[in-house]
Formats: sequence, C-alpha cells, structure tokens
Amino acid sequence: MSTTSLRPAIDRATCTALDESDPLAPMRERFVLPDGVIYLDGNSLGVLPRHTAAHVQRVITEEWGTGLIRSWNDAGWFAKPRTVGDRIAPLIGADAGEVVLGDSTSASLFQATVAAVRLRPGRRVIVAERGNFPTDLYMLEAVQELLGGGTPLERRLISDDGPTLDDVLDEHVAVVVLTQVDYRTGRMHDMAEVTRKVHAAGALVVWDLCHSAGAVPIDLNGADADFAVGCTYKYLNGGPGSPSFIWAATRHHDAARPALTGWHGHARPFDFTVDYAPAPGIERFRVGTPQLLSVAGLEASLDIWDDVDMEAVREKSLRLTELFMSLVDTRLTPHWGIEPVTPRESVRRGSQVSLRHEDGYAVMQALIERGVIGDFRAPDLIRFGFTPLYTSYADVWDAVDVLEDVLRTEIWREPRFARRGTVT
Ligand SMILES: Cc1ncc(COP(=O)(O)O)c(C=O)c1O
Repeated sequence: MSTTSLRPAIDRATCTALDESDPLAPMRERFVLPDGVIYLDGNSLGVLPRHTAAHVQRVITEEWGTGLIRSWNDAGWFAKPRTVGDRIAPLIGADAGEVVLGDSTSASLFQATVAAVRLRPGRRVIVAERGNFPTDLYMLEAVQELLGGGTPLERRLISDDGPTLDDVLDEHVAVVVLTQVDYRTGRMHDMAEVTRKVHAAGALVVWDLCHSAGAVPIDLNGADADFAVGCTYKYLNGGPGSPSFIWAATRHHDAARPALTGWHGHARPFDFTVDYAPAPGIERFRVGTPQLLSVAGLEASLDIWDDVDMEAVREKSLRLTELFMSLVDTRLTPHWGIEPVTPRESVRRGSQVSLRHEDGYAVMQALIERGVIGDFRAPDLIRFGFTPLYTSYADVWDAVDVLEDVLRTEIWREPRFARRGTVT
C-alpha cells in the first residue's frame, strides 16, 4: 500500500474496515490487552500471551513441584536451550541445530563476538555502529580488552551520517557488529548486502536481531551471515527477562571458541572432568543452568509464533507503520512540527516509527497517562512499536487522536510530565 493511496479518504471507518479484512486480526484474542490501553511498546516489552500464565504455572507445579530433579530428563529441561532454539530458528532463517538460548542479549553478544574475532586471528579491528544499542558497544569494549593481548583491539564506528561501512572496511577488520533494525529510528540494514561487503573484506559479521526477531522476516542463512544474537522479550513476547538466543552458521560450529566455557557447553557435562571439552555444534555456546521458568514463558509465546506466517506479519507491519506516518504527516506535522525520523522506504524500515519532539519525554508521559503506551529515547525521540499480532488499524487511528489532543492542548507542559523515572 502506498502512502498516497491511504491519504485521500482516511478516517476511523477506513481503519475499522482494514481490521475487518485483516487475516491476523484473530491473533489479538490470544493476548491479554488491558482495558483502556493502546499498547505501542511491543518493541520494548511484548504483551502477555493469554495462555502463558497457565503454562508457567504447570511447569512450576508439575515439572518442578512434582517432577523435581527428575524433570531434567523427563521434561527435557537439559535440552531446552536447544529445543526451544529450534523453534526460534524458522523465525530467523536458521536451520534446526543452529540456535541456542543464552542469558541476556548483552552476554550473548559477548559470547558470539569473542568466537567471531577468534576466527580471524591477526586482524585487530572491530567495526560497530555509533547508533548500536549502547550495551553492544560496552560489551565490545570488553572484547577489545580481552582479545587485544595487552593493547585493546581497535574499534571503528560507522553511522548513517558517515563514516560508512565502505569507508572503514579493510584487511585489518576482524568482525563487524551491527543491529539490523536501529532501536532509535527503526532504520533497517540490508542484511544480505552488508554481509556480502563484510565477507569481501575477509571479515565476519555479528547481527543483533533484538528489533527484528518477530518484527520482520529474517533470512540469516540466505544472507550467508556468520553469527547473530537477539532477545525474546520484545516482538517474541517471551516475557520480562526471557532468555536471549545465539545463532551461528553451521560452517563455524566446529572451529568456534566462545568466550564463556561453562559446563552446559561441555561435550560431556556429566562426566565432570577437570578439563573443558566443547560440545559439538551450537551447544558449545551454552554456559550454565538455563533460567527454566523464563524459558517456560518463552515456550508459551512460541506456541503462537508456530502458527504465524512472517510474510503476513511483515505485510501488516508495513501497513500499520505507513498508516501511522501518513496520519502524522497530515494531522500533526503541519501544526506542531513533530515528524517521523523513520525511513519511508519500506525495505529500510522495521516495525516501529519514531517521532522527533524537543520535549518528547513529557509528550510521551502525557500519552501514557491517556493510555497510549510508547516510550522515549534520549534526547528527543518518542517511539511507537507496531506489533501486527495484537495492534489494530483502529489502535493507530485512536493513538494519533490522543497524540493530536496532547499536542493541541499542550497538556504535556504540566510539570508532572517532566519527572523522569529510571526507565524511560
Ligand atoms: C538492539 C538491542 N541490543 C541489546 C539490547 C539489550 O539487551 P539485554 O538487556 O537483553 O542484554 C537491547 C535492549 O533493548 C536492544 O534494543
């Protein structure tokens, strides 16, 4: 759908008509959406699937309460990081046996990047993006220090304003670490094209998929990528603190030496040998005891994803984001200057739209008070995540209505909206 095709006749009835013909609309019933809330922050924390509580309850009472230690074998606890990884695989263009659950994305990025750098001995440069989520850059500092042999590895930062990837790639680059969909702007990289350039320079690529897993179709193997990590608490709805995942291309499994060599990544953990021997395949990226209650939350949400066609998700996601931007363009920008910073070109856009406003924090707090939940990223961006499984077209219309009112009345200027919580 083009922006112009939506513009002429758009009104709330158009949106409800789109909902009526939306093949994904029935999915909304599978989630718990609180009354009076339009939730546009699934890019930060996904909504609770309706059957998660019962599933987690069952794991607690039956598998833990009754099964006790037997559940490590009987309920497949020990294998969970791999078996649940196999259920994530189709969502990211990976094969079975290529994905394993990790701890946090930060820890998994460290785990994967150390393995990647070690596969390019003698090369002393890591390329990253200035706009990467900061934890990625912080973890890379540790990698630079750890693998530098006394002098930290060099870091080269690229950005949309330059220097570009082409500017910094050369024969010294070991690894390029990029986030596919930018957490601030929603701008999406062309994974296949970037990976091709990185490989042409003889380097490897590590993708952070936090804002793309469950948001856009991903084809890691099709793109010939090397490593990837991501979280499961955003678009995948695994719940607060649900585990990260690590993917490594099969061709790297045997040679990969991850940073952390815990017993769950050992070839024979229950031999309890003194020396470490890496497990074959992706399981060598495991570290210690998995957080099984969090894994249970993720399993419940994957029951929904098992039934979802990512192409349908993408189609609706683009329509939702385009509708939102079109309404902002026509109803808000001419009066209050607020405008999208997210790319208009659909191939360059994830599933969120960010608007720039000088007092964005206060504007978002005023929106949240009125039941429209998005979030704020300093210094001046308000973010809206569009999650096709439970966001309707009418939600988009209603959210713009509320935003228009917040801007027109300038209620956001009231002092209570300026007080900052720890999490923005
Ligand atoms: C792109 C990206 N990478 C990493 C993280 C942080 O991940 P974690 O807190 O799971 O370590 C986030 C969090 O929002 C993120 O957006």
